[in-house]
Amino acid sequence: MSDLDEHVTHVNHPLVQHKLTIMRDKETPTAVFRQLLREISQLLAYEVTRGLPMTTKRIDTPMQAMDAPTLDGKKLALISILRAGNGLLDGVLELIPSARVGFVGLYRDEETLEPVQYYFKVPEGLDDRLVIAVDPMLATGNSSVAAIDLLKQAGATNIRFLCLLAAPEGIARMKEAHPDVPIVTAAIDEALNDVGYIIPGLGDAGDRMFGTK
Ligand code: URA
Repeated sequence: MSDLDEHVTHVNHPLVQHKLTIMRDKETPTAVFRQLLREISQLLAYEVTRGLPMTTKRIDTPMQAMDAPTLDGKKLALISILRAGNGLLDGVLELIPSARVGFVGLYRDEETLEPVQYYFKVPEGLDDRLVIAVDPMLATGNSSVAAIDLLKQAGATNIRFLCLLAAPEGIARMKEAHPDVPIVTAAIDEALNDVGYIIPGLGDAGDRMFGTK
């Protein structure tokens, strides 16, 4: 891991970077893309949950009693920003199976690039939970900012954002709108093109993972 600043963590780990390169390759088939996304999600989940509050509980090992570390507080909430968020969600859920899960449905108006909401369903008690919002591509930042606006309106106060690729423009937009929301990403790419795609990127993450076009 390398901490760029306290707002953005770039997970510059050999396994993550190797898998990401295969995902970027346009020849990589859908099934392989999906499997790699699941694997990277688990590695990223490890980073995004760093520093979670801990407590201890008394247990008996076969040898003796001990006060052993265990996660403290309410179950965390994973929020998938549809539809591409579901690809990250699956892997993170495998690592944190007791997490509560919510969905924010936003599509990008292809002309204005502005997000339009079509679905919102989140777990109760967001104010007491660590909320991890997941979306593979932090591009313009418009939909991420809008999703986090909605989560804050629903009571969330402790939010982290997990993505696969981030454009500098998206990071800047998130930093400006939500400086309290740390970002964890596998890569920071060069820029956006004129239709809001990340360059060099990996194309449309939803299309790549679901095999649509
Ligand atoms: N969404 C994607 O799926 N890809 C991009 O490059 C930008 C936004």
